[in-house]
Amino acid sequence: MPVDTEELVTRLRNARALVVLTGAGVSAASGVPTFRGDDGLWRQYQAEDLATPDAFARDPRLVWEWYDWRRTNIANCTPNAAHEVLARWSARPGFTLITQNVDGLHERAGTRNVIGFHGSIWELRCAAECGAPPWDNHEAPLQSLPPSCPACGGIARPGVVWFGENIDPGVLERSSAAAARADVFVSVGTSSLVYPAAGLLHHAKRNGAFTVEINPGATDVSRIVDLPIAAPAEDALAMLDARVRMG
Ligand code: OAD
Repeated sequence: MPVDTEELVTRLRNARALVVLTGAGVSAASGVPTFRGDDGLWRQYQAEDLATPDAFARDPRLVWEWYDWRRTNIANCTPNAAHEVLARWSARPGFTLITQNVDGLHERAGTRNVIGFHGSIWELRCAAECGAPPWDNHEAPLQSLPPSCPACGGIARPGVVWFGENIDPGVLERSSAAAARADVFVSVGTSSLVYPAAGLLHHAKRNGAFTVEINPGATDVSRIVDLPIAAPAEDALAMLDARVRMG
């Protein structure tokens, strides 16, 4: 890795508030396809074609077939070295993980203090908003598509945030507050194209955080962070973890 990580290692050791923002690239080594990579298409569709309220209203079964395919794939995946390092770091006071991923792999790795910015693929809720609280569902594949709301019998939807929908206000508030407090803000495995998630790094930087990107590809934020690390998350985080622990 041809970057000088000396300063980052010192800052990681001394950080009182460390915030990590993750995206699909963190789960790539586990076998979960990213959205905008070569493997990002399902049938002929892109995420933007299916992850919308309009697509669901038009064809809920099609949208559910995509989610069912993703759930079944994810159920067969396990956390990788990147998830494991972040789980270890999460034992430190002042650590916050904000993830755009809905796959639940950070939680499965044992990470504490995870903010699921875009919800969870393992949570369902009533599409008609009948008043039933969201519920957990880990069945993969699902027995019937689309699944139904146990309270009203209407169609259920995935408990995720779709394009055109607002982030839960409490989640946004907690994420923005964590970013503003951060001494070190690390963006890992995200294309930094989808807002408001991508705005968190800018918010952290404006508030004085040392900003880092870990991504083997270049993104819009590569040039504005204090330290871009052009490497896969599972390698870069394992290397940083080993150096931070060496004392
Ligand atoms: P993307 O698919 O847009 O970007 C994945 C990023 O991961 C790319 O920049 C890759 O270069 C990088 N990458 C690939 N392999 C990697 C590895 N081993 N280590 C580190 N990085 C790697 O996924 P997101 O940025 O997560 O939202 O996408 C953001 C949002 O758009 C998602 O949460 C989802 C999506 O459509 C909704 O569904 C609302």
